[in-house]
Amino acid sequence: MDAKYSPVLRLQEEEESEGDQPPPSKPHPARPWRVAVIANLKEADPFSPDAPGDAGAEFDKPETIQAIRDVIESDGHTTVFLQANTNLPNALRDFCPDICFNIAEGQGGDAREAQVPALLEMMSIPYTASRVLANAISLDKTMTKRIWRDCGLLTAPFQELITGREPLQADMNFPLFVKPSREGTGMGTSLKSIVHDELELRRQAAWVIREYKQPALVEEYLSGREFTMGVLGRTDARCYSRRPELYGADGFHRFLVQEIDTSHSATPGVYGLKLKKLDYDVPGSADFIIPARISEVLAQQLQQLAVQAHQAIGALDVSRVDIRLDREGKPRLIEINTLPGMSPGFSDLAVIAERGGLIYRDLILEILYLGASRFGLLAAQENFSIPVRRREMVSVRLPATPLSRQHAHTLHATAPHPRRMLRGKRAGLKS
Ligand SMILES: Nc1ncnc2c1ncn2[C@@H]1O[C@H](COP(=O)(O)OP(=O)(O)OP(=O)(O)O)[C@@H](O)[C@H]1O
Ligand SMILES: [Mg+2]
Repeated sequence: MDAKYSPVLRLQEEEESEGDQPPPSKPHPARPWRVAVIANLKEADPFSPDAPGDAGAEFDKPETIQAIRDVIESDGHTTVFLQANTNLPNALRDFCPDICFNIAEGQGGDAREAQVPALLEMMSIPYTASRVLANAISLDKTMTKRIWRDCGLLTAPFQELITGREPLQADMNFPLFVKPSREGTGMGTSLKSIVHDELELRRQAAWVIREYKQPALVEEYLSGREFTMGVLGRTDARCYSRRPELYGADGFHRFLVQEIDTSHSATPGVYGLKLKKLDYDVPGSADFIIPARISEVLAQQLQQLAVQAHQAIGALDVSRVDIRLDREGKPRLIEINTLPGMSPGFSDLAVIAERGGLIYRDLILEILYLGASRFGLLAAQENFSIPVRRREMVSVRLPATPLSRQHAHTLHATAPHPRRMLRGKRAGLKS
């Protein structure tokens, strides 16, 4: 292992150094960190000629990177932006970060969102949010649904088509929904994704397989209301949080529920790429209702389902979970985003956080601090020490700071926010 990447050595050096002052926040890192924000920028690198027409829809804009850097620097750290391309290993060696804030979608392959975490693990560099396996699983919607089904979590009946000619399973009832198994930001989803008979099914599946060069995921079409749920925290989040009061007794923050109402939009019943690209208040855009007008019972059900979905695939610290009601009104999981969009004021997670009183700065710093704590870069705050699930405390090469068995007090999530309705969204920004 390269000594310059050892947090143990760094932490010791830091504690001995008299020069630098720690950032003015709690809990205190031993000294300011060098943070590399890693992302794929829109239009930075060319795509191969056979890439799908909407390739790169998930990539970030410079404004998002800058917003994240501004927040991290406002906490006293040094930042740099590194593009997630083949030059990344050299750039990491040059900058020598203490930790990376990872939002990179990756450039291709069957687990592109896991590429940067895999590289960082190979180079023994700490990074934020989910690790390699969870990022690979969450990109693959079929694998994710197999795990959820195995855990007894409700999701629509489904089948993966590799050639597009496989016979349809007996439990698949029309209308069905056909989408690429490994894309995001609505890529490959439109009104044509809803298929009503064999002919439409075969046509759409063949298009997905040809255009995206990956299997088509066929699911029963969930005709009910659609919600998106933020997930932030983990069992021991309060031990390392700058704002421990954000987390409930289970260690997770309670976000407001966002409903996405597409019924008056250009694509009723489908929140696909076309709607995700539309700006606020333009004709044809979706309505975003925060908090959703639903019963407290349903809100709690959705919250619990989102956390269970996050934990089932081993996601860490942050994610966004999409859920729809079936025709009987039962919530069913659609998919999970372990690298949710982070554009301030635009991305769903940032918006629902703000509406519930968790400002963008705190959202970003919580993700940074929770990530840092898993690599031994932060000491646990004694008052909040609680036992953690084994998987959550794993680091690349260090056990997290040992935790005592003392339980923290029960803390309540943020107060409910008055109802707000938003129309439309984001020009080219990631949901
Ligand atoms: N089984 C389904 N039944 C009904 N609608 C569905 C189903 N699966 C997907 N959709 C619709 O298609 C949209 C996009 O699907 P999905 O969330 O899987 O794609 P995505 O590209 O990963 O989205 P994101 O932008 O959240 O990453 C959903 O928000 C929903 O409106
Ligand atoms: Mg989605």
